[in-house]
Amino acid sequence: MVTGPDSLYVTLLILLHSLTSESVKFEVLGPTEPIVAVAGDDIILPCYLKPNISVEDMTVDWRNLDSTDDLVYRYQNGKNILEDQIPSYRERTSLFKEELWRGNTSLKLTRVQGSDEGHYECLIQSESWYEEIKMQVFVKAVGSRPVVSIEGHREGGMGLVCQSEGWHPEPDLVWLDSKGVSLSAGPPKTHRDIKGLYTVKQHVIVQETDTNLFTCRVSQSRIKEKVETEVYIPSE
Ligand SMILES: *[C@@H]1O[C@H](CO)[C@@H](O)[C@H](O)[C@H]1NC(C)=O
Ligand SMILES: *[C@@H]1O[C@H](CO)[C@@H](O)[C@H](O)[C@H]1NC(C)=O
Repeated sequence: MVTGPDSLYVTLLILLHSLTSESVKFEVLGPTEPIVAVAGDDIILPCYLKPNISVEDMTVDWRNLDSTDDLVYRYQNGKNILEDQIPSYRERTSLFKEELWRGNTSLKLTRVQGSDEGHYECLIQSESWYEEIKMQVFVKAVGSRPVVSIEGHREGGMGLVCQSEGWHPEPDLVWLDSKGVSLSAGPPKTHRDIKGLYTVKQHVIVQETDTNLFTCRVSQSRIKEKVETEVYIPSE
C-alpha cells in the first residue's frame, strides 16, 4: 500500500506531467504549393512550428519519401546526426541554427540535383508530441544544345547521331526533316548520371532530300523547354 503523502506526490506528478504535455502541443506548418527548383541552385524547404516554440530539445527529421533509405537530415540532442543519411545529401543539407529557438526548422538544400525531386516530410518530435508535414519538390534542368555528328554512309543513306545532356525531367528527342516531319530513327538511348540528370542520344539514317537539312529537337513538356540543332549534309 502506498501511504498518504506518497500517493499525493504521485498524483501531483501525474497532474503536472499532463499539464506540461498539454502545453507543448504544436502544429507543424510548411509550403502550400510544390517547390520548383533549378538544378544547381540552393533552395529552402520551409517548415516551422506554431506556436513558435524552441525545437532545441526536440528531434527534427527531414525525409525523402520516394527514397528507400529515407533520412535527408536529422537534428537530435542539439546536433546534426549524420548516421543513416542518404549519401547524395551529404554536405548539402543544413538547418538554420539561429532560427531553431523560434521553431523554424526549414531545411537548406544546396546545389540541387535531379535526384532531389520527390516528396519530402518534415517531422518534429518532442517528448510528448509529434507532427509532420509533407511537401513536393520538382527539379528542373534545361539540357545542352544538341550536338550532331555525321557518322558517314550507312545502309544506303547517311548516318547521323544527336546527343543532348543535363536534363531534368527526362526529355524527348526527335529527328525532323526540313518540313518538320519526324523521321524514323533508331532506339533512343537515355543515361542518368550520378546527380540524376539525363543524357539522350539517338541515331538516324537519312536519305538525300531537296534541302538536305535535318533537325534534331530535344524537348521537355513539363518544364516547357526545347532546344534544337539543324544540320546540313552536302550532297556528293
Ligand atoms: C512568435 O510569434 C509571435 C506571434 O505570432 C510573434 O509576435 C513573435 O515575434 C514570434 N517570436 C519569434 C521569436 O519569432
Ligand atoms: C525560417 O528561416 C529561413 C532562413 O532564415 C527564412 O527564410 C524563413 O523565412 C524562416 N521562416 C519563418 C516562418 O520564420
